[in-house]
Amino acid sequence: MARRALITGITGQDGSYLAEHLLREGYEVWGLVRGQANPRVPRVRRLLQDVRLVRGDLLDQGSLISAVEKAQPDEVYNLGAISFVPMSWEQAELTGEVTGMGVLRVLEAIRVCSGITASRGSSARQIRFYQASSSEMFGQVRETPQTERTPFHPRSPYGVAKAYGHFLTQNYRESYGMFAVSGILFNHESPRRGAEFVTRKVSLGVARIKLGMASELRLGNLEARRDWGFAGDFVRAMHLMLSAAEPEDYVIGTGRTHSVRELVEAAFGAAGLDWERHVVCDSSLHRPAEVDLLCADPKKARTQLGWEPTVSFEDLVAMMVEADLRLLADGRDPEQDNPSWP
Ligand code: NAP
Ligand code: GDD
Repeated sequence: MARRALITGITGQDGSYLAEHLLREGYEVWGLVRGQANPRVPRVRRLLQDVRLVRGDLLDQGSLISAVEKAQPDEVYNLGAISFVPMSWEQAELTGEVTGMGVLRVLEAIRVCSGITASRGSSARQIRFYQASSSEMFGQVRETPQTERTPFHPRSPYGVAKAYGHFLTQNYRESYGMFAVSGILFNHESPRRGAEFVTRKVSLGVARIKLGMASELRLGNLEARRDWGFAGDFVRAMHLMLSAAEPEDYVIGTGRTHSVRELVEAAFGAAGLDWERHVVCDSSLHRPAEVDLLCADPKKARTQLGWEPTVSFEDLVAMMVEADLRLLADGRDPEQDNPSWP
């Protein structure tokens, strides 16, 4: 029988790439979708036709138990979250509930459906659990590059909520013997990235300027540095972690870091434009507390999982700019369509 996976966050960037990857691997894939009339659900139904959808919300414990009962998964990937860092200052409590407590609710749904108690450990047929942890947990970094052993110092309510989910996943592994792992993923991008994140904001901005639809692009802190990789590479790592012999946490990143300024230079350059003529620095876009520098040491993933990224920073930026030029030239709406969806 095909292995079954349940993915929370199926309507997001990573959910789409992971679903495609698991379908290619022969999995039966279920996706958790929320809301009465979620506008992203028709797109998922149209574009990921082989994925079965089940209703549920990370805020609703009962719905998660029902979803696990219905899907009967072998593997659960918890990708659902409020994932945009600035929003976590505006809606800190909601971020704590969805991004933090949501992890507890998914773990509890698995525990209850598997009949695991404090005195009775996990059964032979375990549901394996993946938690989408984040390099944002490193925050004000204590060392560079960051490894699985680098201490956390989160700088946003989002980072704090992710740290809670991370430690809880570790605790359920240690308390109940569950196969529960966290991938500490550094920034990963694609043409499917939400338009609020800096890479996509820049690729869309470049495309609008190139096509004469805009003349300027307003950005915040150009000096922040991130380790940017391609989302399609990173979802392979999630699957490898749940396929490993032992449950362990892994850092996933490229090991190369670039500033937002370098991103901007590369993106405008890919379209033959001079960024200094178009980019406007807007201090209102600066964050209350910034993460200045992220750079992964992915050695453990390379040696134990055989994971390697395949797309360079330069190729990723060019891919995103080209995709947005095509999207806008076709008159499509970036909020509704994504150029590289299947
Ligand atoms: P994304 O595109 O923002 O997707 C977030 C997903 O969470 C969406 O499908 C959204 O569904 C869902 N969601 C939000 N609130 C929910 C709720 N109350 N109940 C159920 N689902 C809910 O994020 P992504 O980039 O794919 O990232 C996937 C995960 O990895 C997230 O947990 C993120 O924090 C984490 N992460 C991402 C990166 C990165 O660079 N991309 C790096 C490290 C960690 P709706 O369509 O219903 O809103
Ligand atoms: N979004 C945005 N918009 N960011 C800007 C802008 C702007 O106009 N100008 C500068 N930046 C800077 C931010 O201050 C930040 O330092 C950097 O660009 C990256 O911002 P985002 O793309 O919003 O990503 P993030 O690093 O805050 O968070 C992403 O990566 C995390 C992993 O480290 C998200 O995907 C998180 O969910 C993820 O956990």
